[in-house]
Amino acid sequence: MIPFDRFEKWSPILEKSARQYLGESEYQEYRSIPEAEKMSQLKAILEKPIARFTPVNDVFFRARWAEVLRAARVGNELTLLEIASGDTDMIPQMMARERPNSHYIAANMNRILTGRLQENTRDLPLEVRVIEEDAIDIDRHLGEQSVDIIAFQHAVNDVIQAILCDQQGVDTIYTDWMETLPKMIAILQRETAQNTLEQHAKGPYLCLLEKLFKVLKKDGLMVMNHYMFQLDLDWGYPPGLFENLIPITREWIKEIPGCKEVFIEGFHPQWWLFYQRVID
Ligand SMILES: C[S@@+](CC[C@H](N)C(=O)[O-])C[C@H]1O[C@@H](n2cnc3c(N)ncnc32)[C@H](O)[C@@H]1O
Repeated sequence: MIPFDRFEKWSPILEKSARQYLGESEYQEYRSIPEAEKMSQLKAILEKPIARFTPVNDVFFRARWAEVLRAARVGNELTLLEIASGDTDMIPQMMARERPNSHYIAANMNRILTGRLQENTRDLPLEVRVIEEDAIDIDRHLGEQSVDIIAFQHAVNDVIQAILCDQQGVDTIYTDWMETLPKMIAILQRETAQNTLEQHAKGPYLCLLEKLFKVLKKDGLMVMNHYMFQLDLDWGYPPGLFENLIPITREWIKEIPGCKEVFIEGFHPQWWLFYQRVID
């Protein structure tokens, strides 16, 4: 697999990043991990499908998203909209420490995960707003050109899975996401075997992105990343699809007018996609 990032870059700065991006009790937990174990966890995160969740994951992903904000050259008081966040809080955790005067908004459909995200972000010194709705209806909540960055943090897969589930009458809003995952994987196996993924998912996916681009400011960036989880692979997620979600959807996104892909050094195109709105 193409590494998500370079171990040689992150190993010397892991400790400094931990002090910068972890809370006090998180940092104590991080410190209790022996140094060699930390390095082996870091190497695994960067070079293999993710199989464990430890404070090392939190350090790396928070620090990596901080790099995204720096690379995007956005001001200190930015508005970032995250799509399909689930209960993952790495972006608001980072923003609370790196850009506390900014505004974090999440659009997330699943009720249980939305509740957990609200819980996870409750005490952060950051303006947080959680929109509990399908992101396709974002224009009901946000004005045109009102956000600086739209982030899909490991969410391309989730959005496509929700689209396919909706078409097949599988509820992803009021159910437990992980309990539904085997059904999602079965749908993806069928779509892959019958070569119908593009036919079924591309139209609704692009429709969603076009709606989202409306709330993005001119020159603003839509940032998507992806990496693999070992659990999904173990449960039968088609490996060629899971590994290539960014390259596959990159081909689809080219059809959206008024935007262009930009490549940022240090972000491998296998795992990252930056799309910029270029028209008013
Ligand atoms: C597993 S969680 C996401 C986790 C997160 N992206 C991560 O891995 O860091 C999947 C979430 O995507 C949400 N989702 C999928 N499609 C969506 C859409 N069109 N609008 C809002 N939320 C969506 C689901 O409701 C669910 O809460």
